Parts: sequence; structure tokens; C-alpha cells
Amino acid sequence: MATEILKGHIADFPSLGELRITENGYLVLEDGVIQGVYSRLPPCYAACPVVDYGNRIVMQSFADLHLHAPQYPMLGMGMDLPLLEWLQTYTFQTEARFADTDFARTVYRRLARELIEHGTTRVCMFSSLHTDATLILMEELSRAGITGYVGKVNMDRRGVPGVLEETTEESIRETLRWLESCGGISGIAPILTPRFTPSCTDKLMAFLGSAAAERNLRVQSHLSENLQEMELVRSLHPDCQRYYQSYEKFGLWKDHTVMAHCVHSDRAERDAMRRANVLAVHCADSNVALCSGIAPVRAMLDEGVWVALGSDMAGSTMLHMLDVVASTIRSSKVRRIHSQWQEPFLTVEEALYLGTTAGHRWFGAGDGFAVGDRLHAIVLEDSELPSVRPLSVRERVERCVYRRQERCISAVWADGHQVL
Ligand code: GUN
Ligand code: FE
Repeated sequence: MATEILKGHIADFPSLGELRITENGYLVLEDGVIQGVYSRLPPCYAACPVVDYGNRIVMQSFADLHLHAPQYPMLGMGMDLPLLEWLQTYTFQTEARFADTDFARTVYRRLARELIEHGTTRVCMFSSLHTDATLILMEELSRAGITGYVGKVNMDRRGVPGVLEETTEESIRETLRWLESCGGISGIAPILTPRFTPSCTDKLMAFLGSAAAERNLRVQSHLSENLQEMELVRSLHPDCQRYYQSYEKFGLWKDHTVMAHCVHSDRAERDAMRRANVLAVHCADSNVALCSGIAPVRAMLDEGVWVALGSDMAGSTMLHMLDVVASTIRSSKVRRIHSQWQEPFLTVEEALYLGTTAGHRWFGAGDGFAVGDRLHAIVLEDSELPSVRPLSVRERVERCVYRRQERCISAVWADGHQVL
């Protein structure tokens, strides 16, 4: 058994709003599995080597529960159109490039590297409709040490003819080929991914629902992101009172289903999420960048809905989860302003919990640095930043969020291995 000990200020988020700090503490691992966090090293570990991070902060890494890998080349551009026009004008054209597997390899290798440098060690990700590029994406994430789920996108209507489209039969056949080919990729599992209701025929949705049940696969999609989109869903599924029912009727609304955005989900839709244990992924920056709206995260949390964070790259302008966390807080402050100060904004501790523990739980992890979990952690480096007095660890964490520095993450652990 290999014992490793990390020494530093150990910081984790065991519950919503709770930042637990063990100053000058020890995080003990055996074969990458957390044995405990101690303020004094237990004598049984006295002879083991210690990696001393000094005054640095050893914090939980991030889990990004919603992002689109093939949109990486357009990150930071095309933020002037609302969702449906944005998809048709920019997004589908960009995703179409991933028919080229060499291009996919180059871009996805770089993306995987950047995610690790940003301290994102777990992802739930959309690929494009291309099976081969999806397999390449899974390989590159695995190579970089990232763990999580990737979905070949299903979209057999409303693509761009001749550019980005698949027939129902192709979509089914390619999904089966993908599922048969991706078994050996370490740490990365497949997740069924109907792009969103408007992109999929009933026949395709029914196939995905039965595949999810028969093969015990998870499902991800988009929900109630934009008012025009919701109008379109109502016209396509007049039998559904609410958007979520267009997934529910095909067996896609189930335990651990991931639904991105949920900006305009009303109380009934949110209750349906809670009952089914569906994860609502809040994509704060994207919701503003595409002028979709500001999701009622505080209400969701109060009602017991499971919420985690996603960058939604490239509907957003950012990939770094420290930026996403800051954006989440800012968005919640806009809701506070517009509620005549009735709705409390999210605190730094709450937003960091959503970006860490809440997301890691979807992958089966416990709360904070839980004993028995494989380590997912970052080391925060802020020694270059000036201050007029010694800062508390809590103040330093806050500043790392709001004033994110290049190279503010000096080491990363994913699934028990050091990957940076
Ligand atoms: N809805 C369907 N496709 C997409 C996408 O690529 N990004 C976002 N933000 N919403 C979508
Ligand atoms: Fe999205």
C-alpha cells in the first residue's frame, strides 16, 4: 500500500455554505484513497514521506457538469444571438468541423490539458454527433487523467443540411457503434445525449429511452433554457404541459438524469426534478451571455432540488470553474437586486459547494474530502498577491474566486493520481 501525505491548509465544502478549514493540516492517502484530514499527524504515519505545500491551500477540485467539447474553438466569440439563432449561425458550423478526426485529436488534447490546468477533474460533457471524434475525446480526457462521462450527441432534426445532420437510422446505428467501441477507455463512461427535445424525433427519443433502461445508462440534455425554445417544444409536443414531460414520456427523466440550464423551470417542473432525483446544472455565465435569463437557484436549493454547476462552454465566455463560481455569485446578486432584496444571493461558500461537492456527488463521491473517496484536489497558489495584513484562509479562498490569477493552481489530483 502506498501512503502519501499532503501538508498545507486543507479546505473542503462538506455541505451547502460550509467551508471547512484545517490550517497546517495533513491529508493522508493510501493508494490515492483519502484516509483522513488531521490537524496533527497520527503517529502511525510518522515514518511516511510528506509533500509539504507550506502556506498553500489544498482544496477540492472542480466538477463541470455541463460543457460542449466541440465548441472549444469558438469559446469567447459569437455572443450576440439568442439560443436558437446562435445554434444555427455559429454552433452547428463549429461542431461540423469534428468530422475531421485529426482536427478533433489536436483540439481535444488541448482542451483536456486546459481542463486539468484549471483544476476541473470531473466532467459530464457533450461531444458532437460524430462517433469517431467522440471516441477521440474520450481517449484524450482519459490520457489527461480526467474522469467522467461523455455523450455522442443525438440530433436527427433541425441540424444544418449537408453540414451537421444525421438521419434517425444513422443516429441509432452510430450510437450503438459508439457504445460498443468505448468500453475500454479508462475513467470515461458513455452517457446518452439527446441534444434537446427540438433536435430529436420521437422515434430517436424512444430508442434512447429504451437504451437507457436496457443498458442502465445515464442521460443528459437541456431543459427550459430559453423562452423561444420552450415555445418550440410546446408546438412539437402539444400533449406535454411542461418541457420536462417531453423527456419523461420516453423514459429519459430518471434518477441522475442531468438537465442543463433550467432557467425557466417553474415550481411544478422543479418538483418533478426533486422527485426523480434529476440534477439541475446551473450555467450562470451562459444564461447571461445568450440572454436566456437568470435561473432561480436559491429557490431550487430551498426546495431541495439537486443543483451543480456547469461552464456550458461555449454558450458561456469561460471554462475556468473559478470564473464560473464567481459568475454564479454575480448572477444571484442580479436576482437579489430584481427581487427588491428579498432573495438572498449565493455566498462564496455556497457557490464553491455547488462547483465542487454537489457535482462530485453525481459521480458517487461523498461530502468534501470524504474518507474512502479517491482524491480530487487542487493546490491554490496566491503568494504573489499583495495584502496589507495577514489574510485568513477563508479570505484567500474568496480572493482566488473573485480575482482569479493565471497559474493560480499549482498542483492537481484526479481520481487519486497527481495529474499536474
Ligand atoms: N441547446 C441545444 N444545444 C445547445 C447548446 O449547444 N448549447 C446550449 N447552451 N444550449 C443548447
Ligand atoms: Fe449546453
